[in-house]
Amino acid sequence: MARCVDIDLPGPIIELGPGTGPVTQALLQRGIAPERLILVEYDPAFCRLLERRFPGVRVVQGDAYNLGETLAGVIEEPVCAVVSSLPLLNKPEADRLALLTDAFGMLDPAGVFVQFTYGMMSPIPKRMAGAAAPAFSAQASQPVWLNLPPARVWCYRPSLDDILVKRDGAGRILGSIKERTGRVKDEILDTCDRIETELRLARDRMRMDIEGRAARVRSDRHVRPALELLRRIGEQRRARR
Ligand SMILES: C[S@@+](CC[C@H](N)C(=O)[O-])C[C@H]1O[C@@H](n2cnc3c(N)ncnc32)[C@H](O)[C@@H]1O
Repeated sequence: MARCVDIDLPGPIIELGPGTGPVTQALLQRGIAPERLILVEYDPAFCRLLERRFPGVRVVQGDAYNLGETLAGVIEEPVCAVVSSLPLLNKPEADRLALLTDAFGMLDPAGVFVQFTYGMMSPIPKRMAGAAAPAFSAQASQPVWLNLPPARVWCYRPSLDDILVKRDGAGRILGSIKERTGRVKDEILDTCDRIETELRLARDRMRMDIEGRAARVRSDRHVRPALELLRRIGEQRRARR
């Protein structure tokens, strides 16, 4: 799976369903810098384990079948590759096609979607009645007999037509991610403004409160003579100097 990734193509590499990280490790061993890897894992315990095992790699806890939302604010440039170990065959075909469509929306035109499967057929159907399927080319590896059970690796690439449509439309998913990122940034800036205003008001209130208390202490009839005495001692010291 790691060999299917063109490491000279720039951009992040998204791994879907990394589990405990065997594919992550292979990607790193292939020479991919940890900062380029974004792991999308559903299970929080696996996420914690992955963070401990792979410092520098970004782990996102979320649903890989809802990539637009899961990666909102995370992806800011075309993606080099999406490497998936998700058990696709457990999902309806429409969901698998939707996943590929979302992934293609983020991919660089020369990027690849890599998927392993225990089945003999492509886990992503070429077309489906009533569903919008992206046009793609697919290549399968020979069965890997040493894997138990034997598995195959499939590489899916957007077809030229799809790339042209995507270039024209500037990438539907990338566009929606950028839009969400912008909204999140605006929300953060608004919140910062509100916090700053509240802090300023609280500081003013505190200063007025302290000044009020100090004025009350100064005018207290028991404290006043003591303050007067201190003032005179100060004057005498200064005069002696
Ligand atoms: C078959 S395991 C593969 C683990 C590992 N990559 C390997 O090759 O041994 C599938 C992984 O996908 C994760 N997963 C399943 N559904 C998911 C989803 N919708 N979003 C993100 N991760 C999911 C599971 O938690 C599990 O870690």
